[in-house]
Amino acid sequence: MNILVMHGPNLHLLGRRKPEIYGKLTLEQINEAIRAEALSLGFGIRIFQSNHEGGIIDILTDNASWANALIINPAAYTHYSYAIREAIEALGIPAVEVHLSDISKREPFRRVSVILPVCEKQIKGKGLGSYIEALHYFHTKASSKI
Ligand code: DQA
Repeated sequence: MNILVMHGPNLHLLGRRKPEIYGKLTLEQINEAIRAEALSLGFGIRIFQSNHEGGIIDILTDNASWANALIINPAAYTHYSYAIREAIEALGIPAVEVHLSDISKREPFRRVSVILPVCEKQIKGKGLGSYIEALHYFHTKASSKI
């Protein structure tokens, strides 16, 4: 199983950006941990970050024939990007939306996700653990099909 991980805008700033909310790990450290866990679960893994709506859509499209599942942190696009929602829908593979912070307990604009309706689930508020839990979700799902 091949997993595509997509990080949205401003997540390249992790470690420096609001560490009290997003934690102290850099994106590089988060990616290393995701990659290690994915490999230990026997997954193929590709990880990308983009600050641009169209860039995210292009990455999803470019990896469509490789990926079997998507883990996406759409960052601020979570709350208003119908273009990314439609790109995920067009991909036609199972997707999980993840967030480092608990968006249900922050400002009102963050409580809405326009992405969630095209995802199987949302995992939030666990920092790096949100991504790790998403990997395990797909692992459990794949194992239960055998
Ligand atoms: C975020 C939450 C979003 O509301 C915010 O815009 C982000 C990060 C998170 O991982 O907690 O950039 O997706």
